[in-house]
Amino acid sequence: MNGVKTGKTIVNGQCLNGTEVNGKVAHDTKLYVSVNGSLYPAKAKSRRQRWEVKPSEMANNTLNPIRAIVDGMKLTPNQDKPMISLSIGDPTVFGNLPTDDAVLQAMKDAIDSQKFNGYAPSVGYLKSRQAVANFYSCPEAPLEAEDVILTSGCSQAIDLAISVLCNPGDNILVPCPGFSLYKTLAVSMGIQVKLYNLLPEKSWEINLQHMESLIDERTSCLIVTNPSNPCGSVFSKEHLLKILKVASRHCVPILADEIYNNMVFPGSHCPSIASLSSDVPILSCGGLAKRWLVPGWRMGWILIHDRNEIFGSEIRQGLVKLSQRILGACTIVQGALESILNNTPQSFYNNTICFLKCNSEICFNELSTVPGLCPIMPSGAMYLMVSTKTVGIDMDHFPDFKNDVDFTERLVTEQSVFCLPASAFEYPNFFRIVVTVPEEMMVEACGRIREFCQRHYRPSSRDSNDLDQ
Ligand SMILES: Cc1ncc(COP(=O)(O)O)c(C=O)c1O
Repeated sequence: MNGVKTGKTIVNGQCLNGTEVNGKVAHDTKLYVSVNGSLYPAKAKSRRQRWEVKPSEMANNTLNPIRAIVDGMKLTPNQDKPMISLSIGDPTVFGNLPTDDAVLQAMKDAIDSQKFNGYAPSVGYLKSRQAVANFYSCPEAPLEAEDVILTSGCSQAIDLAISVLCNPGDNILVPCPGFSLYKTLAVSMGIQVKLYNLLPEKSWEINLQHMESLIDERTSCLIVTNPSNPCGSVFSKEHLLKILKVASRHCVPILADEIYNNMVFPGSHCPSIASLSSDVPILSCGGLAKRWLVPGWRMGWILIHDRNEIFGSEIRQGLVKLSQRILGACTIVQGALESILNNTPQSFYNNTICFLKCNSEICFNELSTVPGLCPIMPSGAMYLMVSTKTVGIDMDHFPDFKNDVDFTERLVTEQSVFCLPASAFEYPNFFRIVVTVPEEMMVEACGRIREFCQRHYRPSSRDSNDLDQ
């Protein structure tokens, strides 16, 4: 047997006292030889007297702030008013935003072909990866099939991207307010999360100074969400260039969460950050969920933008290895992907955008005149943030409520309208409205929010002082 220096036969578990195996001499402990010839000590016999099965540290450290907050709320709707939930970022819940027939047909064809019932390579079928590469490739940021990794939703893309770039003890920079999954994943992996501020008064641009001040030698990636959940904001080209400058100055790669890529209202332009980067390597995460309105199909991807070979083969190999932990994306959707990307008509995308913009305007215009509220008009995605102005000098406008959680809870109790308190995004005193609901529901919901605010709004002492002067 490999490396054994005596003539004795070694049987697993036999006492090998004094025998040298692989350069190590066994003394009093029983040694076992593993399949690759290395030695390991026999374990002490289990002395467990009773069952004690505990969740792992990773499980204990996996916390979803949205669940933590929502599950703690007493959500008892007013029985006289049907519930309107403006809280869930799933565009399919009301049935008013079906996906396109071409998308459905692609899926039916994939099933009928019987070609996609087996396992695919862990990073996805080459043909499907090529289709994604072709769809997103542009002269400034060209992509080949090998630059694409297919994943189970954008969530797995983000998981793989964080996992390949960060070690326990590293830190990542995350927008505040921002999508809660980044923190959920990072904390469970022992990665520190540093929140950088977005500026509501500047259409949620990044406070670049603040962001830069957080970077240190353990910063392993900067997450940029554009367009944004929860803000619905879209960064200008100039702002994206400034973000790239900071990343370049400190040699920090970017994880671009671009799941809302191209979901931008007319008048705004939203280049991918990779198309503007000259040196910063970027892992861009995306998927079918939002733009094609099929979040349940769980199709996502990572686009590896590494024109200067900074990630190099090691990061690529790392992503391939990580993709092997689970065998990636559903094969039927992979089989449909090329046809989905090539055959979805432009009119479908346009109609979705038109609907989201129209509903955002209704919501913004309605809530702009509600006492105590300050909505911020989005430029894309599916969300609108509203300030309850219960912070700082405006605290006493709604003295009946402690905070945004209290405010939104009572909105359910009195008006059966549920908006997500922005504490779920580490941003207290705002709430988020999802604008995918049917138009008549949006109008009704805004009317009820008005009624609620009129009932609870109190002019602050500062307002009356102003009037006195
Ligand atoms: C910003 C952002 N990133 C990623 C995701 C996750 O996408 P998926 O459903 O494809 O996993 C979401 C879903 O709401 C999101 O809002």
